[in-house]
Amino acid sequence: MELKVLRKNILGHKTECLIIGRFEGRTENPALKEVDAALGGAIKCAIQAGDFKGKLNQTALFYNSGQLSTERVLIIGLGSRREFCLERLREVSGKAVAEMKKIGARVISTTLPQTVEGMIDDVDIAQAIAEGCFLGAYSFDEHKTEKKDIPKEIKTLNMVLPLRYKGIKKIEEGARRGEIISQNVLFARRLVSSPGNVATPSFMAEQAIYMEKEADIKATVIEKEEMGKLGMGAMLAVAQGSSQSPKFIIMEYKGGKAENKPYVIIGKAVTFDSGGISLKPSPEMDEMKMDMSGGAAALGTVRAAAMLKLPLNLVALVPATENLPGGRAYKPGDILKSMSGKTIEILNTDAEGRLIMADALTYAERYKPKAVIDIATLTGACIVALGSNASALLGNNESLKKELLRAGDETGERVWELPLWDSYKKQIKSDIADMKNIGGKGAGTITAAAFLDQFAGKYHWAHIDIAGTAWEKEGRPYIPKGATGVGVRLFIKFLENSLRV
Ligand code: BES
Ligand code: MN
Ligand code: ZN
Repeated sequence: MELKVLRKNILGHKTECLIIGRFEGRTENPALKEVDAALGGAIKCAIQAGDFKGKLNQTALFYNSGQLSTERVLIIGLGSRREFCLERLREVSGKAVAEMKKIGARVISTTLPQTVEGMIDDVDIAQAIAEGCFLGAYSFDEHKTEKKDIPKEIKTLNMVLPLRYKGIKKIEEGARRGEIISQNVLFARRLVSSPGNVATPSFMAEQAIYMEKEADIKATVIEKEEMGKLGMGAMLAVAQGSSQSPKFIIMEYKGGKAENKPYVIIGKAVTFDSGGISLKPSPEMDEMKMDMSGGAAALGTVRAAAMLKLPLNLVALVPATENLPGGRAYKPGDILKSMSGKTIEILNTDAEGRLIMADALTYAERYKPKAVIDIATLTGACIVALGSNASALLGNNESLKKELLRAGDETGERVWELPLWDSYKKQIKSDIADMKNIGGKGAGTITAAAFLDQFAGKYHWAHIDIAGTAWEKEGRPYIPKGATGVGVRLFIKFLENSLRV
């Protein structure tokens, strides 16, 4: 989809569908009035008949009978004016685009910027509309060979502004930012949606190397032998049961001064989690192809930061492996030596994510990071606690957590804090090793974080569990069913905010 910003008289604007917003209540806006007059009052009739009230995400479609240059007009409800916010703007944009996709329109035009002009900053307005549209239009059809089963792709999205519009430069800037960020969310979604036989650890490494050519990023892949030399015993144990070799992917972006400490993002990339010897039940096991969502988010974030040329230094560490019950697989009862030197007694091979993350947390120390944030589909318990509405947040630094909470509110990729009190640590005490890899009954998300805390070095650290937010089961306005690409927008907002202080 190509995004254009135009200043045009909407009545004469040639497009397949014009998207116009309307708030609930007696609130008309100039675009709506103009178009309604050209339609002979058809929209007003729909409102008077009570068929269209302007409720959030409500839609009504009208056809042009000659007075307009558009073929159709889609009216979308913006809900109450008082409750309007950026998240709602993303939602209505996503919803409108999904309707367009259903119809099969190829060239569409939105007038939303002018309807909400002045309510929010122009850059934010355009960015939210762009994000809603790009993310709402997403579908994963790469593996369908029957053309008729594939929805037509929208080729052009125009943001149409009236000739008098003053904030055009800001709208253009927001549109550009929204497009870059969305492209990288979509990059993450495609990786996550890709099946385990495609998105293998080597495939993920190839993606990183490919990125090196596209943007100003350095990619390094640590192979199995080197992992051995580094002493990554936890990572290697998880990989043992699979014939796919593990990859430890490093992406470095240097947009800041050489002496600026980098942020490090660590993303879990278990490209398929069968549970290993502690095998998962068959129903829904297929969904465990998404167990690399954290890694996809980390890669997407670095790519977006580079494309946006953020003036900061950023590193992504992505430990990538399968978790399978092969003949050489690690077993319950095994004791591993991690890169930190600490020993781990394995009681369940399905608690593999924390093992690969442990070695990555140790590896992160060499960067003397400003902060380390890890992101992982780590625990089913997180879904029990927060469902799909928020990711869990834990960590050792208050201001880092506060900034992540704020970025979550601003992007709609909400995070919610769980406590990480010392008293939880006893749940992972082992009788015969330094710790065990599961915490027993209760507080599964917290005990997993308490485990990671043993490996987080002296740096500021936060952990984000996205088990419930990485995969959307129902479908929401700009988050269609399937991979969500969660994390990319959250991190970019967090990084941008960090530049403002
Ligand atoms: N990848 C899973 C967690 C998960 C579950 C993510 C459902 C998304 C949806 C993780 O590796 C896992 O299996 N965790 C276990 C830990 C347990 C054995 C302590 C879990 O949550 O059941
Ligand atoms: Mn598992
Ligand atoms: Zn897992």
